[in-house]
Amino acid sequence: MSSLIGPTAAPGHSRLVPPIFVTASTQIRQLLALVERAALGGGKVLITGESGVGKDLIAQRIHVFSTRQAGPFVPVNCAGLTESLLETELFGHVKGSFTGAHRDKAGKLQLAHRGTLFLDEVGEMSLRMQALLLRFLENGEVQAVGSDLLRATVDVRVVAATNRNLDEMVAAGQFREDLLYRLRVIHLHVPPLRERKEDVRVLVDHFVSRSAARVSFTERALQVLERHRWPGNVRELENVVEQTKWLADQGAVDIPQLPLAIRTAGESILVVNERRRQVADDLYQAIIHGGYSFWEHIYPLFLSRDMTRHDMRELVTRGLSVSRGSYRVLLRLFRMPPHDYKRFLNFLAAHDCGVDFRQFRKLPAQRPERRPRVVLPPLSEADRDDKTVISALDATDRFSAV
Ligand SMILES: Nc1ncnc2c1ncn2[C@@H]1O[C@H](COP(=O)(O)OP(=O)(O)OP(=O)(O)O)[C@@H](O)[C@H]1O
Ligand SMILES: [Mg+2]
Repeated sequence: MSSLIGPTAAPGHSRLVPPIFVTASTQIRQLLALVERAALGGGKVLITGESGVGKDLIAQRIHVFSTRQAGPFVPVNCAGLTESLLETELFGHVKGSFTGAHRDKAGKLQLAHRGTLFLDEVGEMSLRMQALLLRFLENGEVQAVGSDLLRATVDVRVVAATNRNLDEMVAAGQFREDLLYRLRVIHLHVPPLRERKEDVRVLVDHFVSRSAARVSFTERALQVLERHRWPGNVRELENVVEQTKWLADQGAVDIPQLPLAIRTAGESILVVNERRRQVADDLYQAIIHGGYSFWEHIYPLFLSRDMTRHDMRELVTRGLSVSRGSYRVLLRLFRMPPHDYKRFLNFLAAHDCGVDFRQFRKLPAQRPERRPRVVLPPLSEADRDDKTVISALDATDRFSAV
């Protein structure tokens, strides 16, 4: 656990200080505000979220901000233990109750008296253990393994966490519905890192600042990290920073220093974007300088899937940036008659290729380079003869945006 142990540890147990929780995202800020309110409320809390999102840290914060902060925070991982071990771990055992039980041993529930018990991975509990836990939650009584007598009544706040979908487990008969209702008095969900990309940079800074290595990540590398899907969430990012900071070249971590899986995902996106720009560029030049027209030459390429929807959008974007956001001007630019206005817009809408013209209204019109850079096959002579080739420059000079 990465929490910092405070200097004011009470006798018998260490007092936690709030673990550092770095964020730049609104979702997490709102969640942290909720955590503080939930902490003071004192009710049972269920924390859900994918592996590595920070559920442990949230559980610690609940304890630290609660009225039980001077009491113990006792974590139990329900996944790492067999059913019988988990039972003795939670409820304790008496001497002689099984081979190797040489003395009485208090369970974690007793150790957590006046504090918080953090039941991690609660979705991994067997149905029998779920029944025992439910009985405890109903009456607060702890019965040690091997003892017929009721041993103790304890005052414990239970905070549970899981990366499983407990509602689905209830539907599948793997988790008790009555236990779920008992545990989920307050529900806190921690979103995955891919849904809060704003956190990537601040987390990288945080993990770098924790180490002695003086490194910084280049802008390109940070962009690749932001694009990664992070299936292992913050823990995966933490590991990546740990591994790569030692590979820094003159203090800088760039794309080549990133692990292969992350690098290739980033590179393939860059390659795709670059290819799209290239295709759109070539088609645009073919229209403006090569005599291609939209319906005769571009449209068939789209129908035969030689160009994708993204290529089409990119091409329309090029056109709109020249026409200052006017689709009517774009029509003439792409060699379509004015009465095709509706047909063209319908075509874009039907294939989800429309581009919002408003973003181009405020921008100064782009003046494309005069030199043609066409890689498409040239038009036949006949084709070329009956076209009036207008340059993009002429078009922007002659037509005002409508
Ligand atoms: N917002 C954050 N700021 C700083 N460190 C974080 C943050 N979120 C997570 N971490 C770090 O990432 C690692 C994983 O976090 P944690 O163990 O809390 O995740 P978890 O959701 O409990 O994962 P699991 O489901 O695997 O138990 C820890 O080292 C933790 O300190
Ligand atoms: Mg955890």
